[in-house]
Amino acid sequence: MPEDFVVTPWEVTGEVDYDELMRRFGTQAVDDALMARIKKHTGDLHPLLERGLFFSHRDMNWILDEYEKGNKFALYTGRGPSSGIHIGHMVPWIFTRWLQEKFRVPLWFQITDDEKFWFRDFEKLEESNKIAYDNILDLIAIGFDPKLTKIFIDTEYIRHLYPLAAQIAKRVTFSTAKAVFGFDESFNIGQIFYTALQSVPCFLPSVDAGKNVPVLIPCGIDQDPHFRVTRDLAERLGYYKPAGLYNKLMPGLLGLQSKMSTSRPETAIFATDTEKAMRKKIANAFTGGRASVEEQRRLGANPDICSVFAYYTYLFAPKDDYLADVERTCRSGERLCGDCKKELADHVAKFLATHQERREKARDRIEEFVIRD
Ligand code: TRP
Repeated sequence: MPEDFVVTPWEVTGEVDYDELMRRFGTQAVDDALMARIKKHTGDLHPLLERGLFFSHRDMNWILDEYEKGNKFALYTGRGPSSGIHIGHMVPWIFTRWLQEKFRVPLWFQITDDEKFWFRDFEKLEESNKIAYDNILDLIAIGFDPKLTKIFIDTEYIRHLYPLAAQIAKRVTFSTAKAVFGFDESFNIGQIFYTALQSVPCFLPSVDAGKNVPVLIPCGIDQDPHFRVTRDLAERLGYYKPAGLYNKLMPGLLGLQSKMSTSRPETAIFATDTEKAMRKKIANAFTGGRASVEEQRRLGANPDICSVFAYYTYLFAPKDDYLADVERTCRSGERLCGDCKKELADHVAKFLATHQERREKARDRIEEFVIRD
């Protein structure tokens, strides 16, 4: 029996069974019919969608119904600025950029310096605020359209956020917050209030437009509990329920069950890693390889348990025939893990070089994106 797993916005432990998680959360599977429907509008499918990594949703069909009636949606996603950005953080953002490009829709991007101050052991609020500005460089480097993108930091946009937060907070009881998030007496009251802030941008595009605007949230499925709370009160406040499109959490480098963790830098590749550091991490990654070269040539290796193969699948083999070739040569034993790691590191090196160049250029572009009170 596999050990049980826990997924909350603050904690992921154990081996996640994503079908079971959809049942627990009550979200729907992204099926072929939905993919075909999306493709009708986008022309092609992003590999993250086609490969089942954006695997679950709420009300995606309603978002498309409205879109087809000429009622465009707004995108909303966010980042809790607790540390530097790693590649796993970028997965939903890269996908969000694709949605923005294909549907030509606005994006509201929330940065929750208050959340991380309340939930992490930062001594000073300035610490998470400083990380917020560092993270914004990575966000801009992802390539969002400045004309369609608004980035806001909670503590610097609070005058706009607070009226909605107050209306939301009045409709979330302590007992709901405890049941959804598992709070007990030891939590600080900022933590208990926080979900109201994360709900606000679900309604902000409507307030901004002066009429109801459908909102779609592309993000990791761990954030869904917040939006379940939001959906329960949306209609009482006179707004649409937000829709969601959720990704699986990208595994760390030390095995599919391993997490990318900032406190253990060897588990993840960071946006600002040097090429040398990155190559070393990939060289030490967990694979599905055999004990010896001889055995691997004879029996083949197992991509199903391999972190390196997961990296190819998520971001570093955008072409299907290339990914299929990596998989085939892995299973057949033609491909050895050392070579496969080097090949991946070459892709990641290119990605990081481009990202880091754009990141430097982003320093002069912050004001194109950030809105403040
Ligand atoms: N709570 C998220 C985090 O810890 C940050 C966040 C705020 C967010 N709003 C969001 C994430 C909307 C996804 C979608 O990273």
